[in-house]
Formats: sequence, C-alpha cells, structure tokens
Amino acid sequence: MRSLTMTSLSLVIAVTAQPVLAADVSGLSSRCVSCHGATGIGSNPLYPNLAGQKSAYLLKQMRDFQKGDRKDPVMNAMVQGLSEQDMNALAEYYSKM
Ligand code: HEC
Repeated sequence: MRSLTMTSLSLVIAVTAQPVLAADVSGLSSRCVSCHGATGIGSNPLYPNLAGQKSAYLLKQMRDFQKGDRKDPVMNAMVQGLSEQDMNALAEYYSKM
C-alpha cells in the first residue's frame, strides 16, 4: 500500500512538473536576460555565465542572495520576489543550457 502511494505520487510529480516548469521559466528568465544573456552567457565581464552550471549550485546561490548570506546589491534585489519553486525552475533552466 505504501509503495503504491509513493508510485502514484511520483507519477503525479513527473506528469505535472514539466509543462509548469517550461511556462514559468520563460517569464521568469526574461528578468535575467539583460545581464545573464538569452543563452546564459553574461553580457559583461562582471556578469557570470549561468549556462551549464550545476543546478544545485545555482539554487544555493539564489537562496543565499535572498537570505543575504551572499551579498551583491543587484542580485539581492533580483531574487527578492522569487519563490522556492521559481528558483528551482531557474536553476534547472540554466543548468540545461
Ligand atoms: C542587472 C544585472 C543582473 C540581472 C538582471 C540578474 N543578475 Fe544574476 N548576477 C549579476 C551579477 C553582477 C552577479 C555576480 C554577483 C557577485 O559578484 O557576487 C550575478 C550572479 C548570479 C548568480 C550566481 C552565479 C555564480 O556563478 O555564482 C546567479 C545564480 C544569478 N545571478 C541568477 C540570476 C537570475 C536567476 C536572474 C533573474 C531572475 C538574475 N541573476 C538577474 C547580475 C544580474
């Protein structure tokens, strides 16, 4: 019974995660494009490349910026309105570039 519940739960996650991610990310990443580029390559020597970076690393940096553990006036402001789900989606998005 327990394994049946787990199986149907992961099925629901697998089915729902993909389309939501794609829809959310294009809107979210439009805020990042001016600095991190449409292909995840920074548009200026001080804007880091995000493309191909590990998603767990990107997620941690965004969380740290949000909590103020990592300080950068621009990025501290950029992540303010983002939910945990938004940051997850963005981390996945840039890591797959
Ligand atoms: C106005 C320019 C600007 C915008 C817009 C911007 N960023 Fe950044 N981002 C930066 C700068 C500058 C840094 C490097 C900060 C530092 O030196 O610590 C950075 C760093 C990062 C890092 C850490 C990269 C690393 O290698 O450690 C992540 C992740 C990131 N940005 C994600 C985003 C996301 C996601 C968005 C959109 C929601 C975004 N940024 C929008 C300028 C920007």
